Amino acid sequence: MDNEFVINQTIAFVKQRLGGDTTGHDWWHTRRVWLIAQKLADEEGADPVVTQLAALLHDIADWKFHAGDETKGVAIAQQWLGSLAVPEDVIDQVCQIIRDVSFKGAGVETGMATLEGRVVQDADRLDAIGAIGIARAFAYGGHKGREMHNPAMPPGYHESFEQYKASQGTTINHFYEKLLLLKHRMNTDSAKAMAEERHRYTEDFLKKFLQEWEAD
Ligand code: ADP
Ligand code: NI
Repeated sequence: MDNEFVINQTIAFVKQRLGGDTTGHDWWHTRRVWLIAQKLADEEGADPVVTQLAALLHDIADWKFHAGDETKGVAIAQQWLGSLAVPEDVIDQVCQIIRDVSFKGAGVETGMATLEGRVVQDADRLDAIGAIGIARAFAYGGHKGREMHNPAMPPGYHESFEQYKASQGTTINHFYEKLLLLKHRMNTDSAKAMAEERHRYTEDFLKKFLQEWEAD
């Protein structure tokens, strides 16, 4: 297959599908994940084509926007890559990553079967922390009509994907329920190193936010 052609076509496809999104899942999120994933793949020795295709297609149809349907993204990716005559084994590897990649609650194990999967999951998680991650959380919370913060609503610990999906908590709670946990869940050493500064920045933000909340 002509790797460059397939990747360029896929970029155009994803741009067109995710372009106008305002929930934190727009093309620019995908682009950042794609850029970070390439960097990690390079450092970790992962296959660049599988990594890039999985990064580009990982949010093509997120369950949060398709009535909780987790299979939609895989189906779209499969059909898309099939239309470009990408070899079956590459399609299978990419689709497995799309199926497994997302965060499913603090208490749910989400191990990735391949190095390429670990790299893409790390890249996606790096984009959920730091300055961009903070902005995305509030964009998503606003989109969902969530309160920014409510001291009367303590964060929860989600034991199952069902619980995580059903959560209606505040955006600040999401920091405790997901964002602050991500640093400890990076798969690769390269991502662990990148997560350090983003994590610290996220913690500092939270500290300031809670101080200002009390007019401190
Ligand atoms: P990903 O791109 O990893 O699939 P998600 O789909 O889990 O990320 O979420 C997209 C963005 O919205 C992320 O930055 C995430 O932290 C944020 N987000 C997800 N759920 C919530 C929530 N309940 N409250 C606030 N932000 C959320
Ligand atoms: Ni994502």
